Amino acid sequence: MSGPNTDYDPVEVTPLKADEVEAARDAALAAIESAGTLEELKRVRTEHAGDRSALALANREIGALPPQARKEAGQRVGQARGAVSKALAARQAVLEAEHEERILVEEAVDVTLPWDRYPAGARHPLTTLSERIGDVFVAMGWEIAEGPVVEAEWLNFDALNLGADHPARTMQDTFWMEPPENAIVLRTHTSPVQARTLLTRKPPVYVVCPGRVFRTDEYDATHSPVFHQVEGLVVDEGITMAHLKGSLDHFASSMFGEGITTRFRPSYFPFTEPSAEVDLVCFVCRGTGLDPAVGTSVGASGSTAAEPTSSAHGSCRTCKGEGWIEWGGCGVVNPRVLVACGVDPERYTGFAFGMGIDRTLMFRHGVEDLRDLFEGDVRFVGAFGTEI
Ligand code: DAH
Repeated sequence: MSGPNTDYDPVEVTPLKADEVEAARDAALAAIESAGTLEELKRVRTEHAGDRSALALANREIGALPPQARKEAGQRVGQARGAVSKALAARQAVLEAEHEERILVEEAVDVTLPWDRYPAGARHPLTTLSERIGDVFVAMGWEIAEGPVVEAEWLNFDALNLGADHPARTMQDTFWMEPPENAIVLRTHTSPVQARTLLTRKPPVYVVCPGRVFRTDEYDATHSPVFHQVEGLVVDEGITMAHLKGSLDHFASSMFGEGITTRFRPSYFPFTEPSAEVDLVCFVCRGTGLDPAVGTSVGASGSTAAEPTSSAHGSCRTCKGEGWIEWGGCGVVNPRVLVACGVDPERYTGFAFGMGIDRTLMFRHGVEDLRDLFEGDVRFVGAFGTEI
């Protein structure tokens, strides 16, 4: 049987020694002070105030002390632990505040930074101009007609009085679809829409058709194998060339400004009789033929201003001194076209016209190279903004 352990002096148990408790406390306080982040402080808390820390072990020993020793040891350990947890709380508050502050700086959002890094893009000016042209005619009660770009030879040529051996066929260098015996072409003009319209609706007909056309042309500053035309067709009772002239004058001034009218020069197209080339009053010199920066003179419009102030050097560069600019073709619908499309030529007459949209755009905006319209450079399209 064993007797009481007379050697055991709980006050002398290592974890409870005054200098050990002090050392543990000081080590804890130093570690707390040097914790630079909340993460580090968490580790310090576990090490110096956790269940297995020196001070926690000392605290556990207190229970084993005889009552008379408990008070003093309890006070010492309690004060040390109190100091440590106070220091932990204070450091925690400081580090949290720093953390918040850093987040505010690091994660700050500069609301003045640009948000529209991607250019908004713009519609192609040929698209907007085609729509604008359509609007000019829709405002007069006309309709927009459409036709396919892959077209039957018969509609592209024969129905328009361009028979198989008609010399005018060679005026339009044609892309043929394979195999040629199918007689399918890429339309060489928007005129087949005339035939399509007359075959599908009864007069009165008032239509415009803007669209793409194709010819085996070289690709250069003034030619392209693909380009754009707008076709106009009116078939009704009592239609004369005067209606044609009035419509084109209105179209011209809608495109180029008040006072820009047209003149007709006799010409030939198989689908119109009589036919004419349409010229515009030059919208730069307004028909004077003179460079507006140099002087004024008698104009093509017939209005007199002053004597010409110069000849070659003072010529308007846009119309080369002519006062007029070629714009398109037109005429009275050939009765043979009406007949081919089942329209009674005794009862109905009509007029038709065809203009280049690309040319119209180049005039309106001073575009000097046709290729700019087709090369897809966003800097070109962007310059036209976001007109809709
Ligand atoms: N289709 C003709 C061409 O491409 C243009 C044209 C001329 C159309 C006279 C017409 C017209 O409707 O009457 O050259």
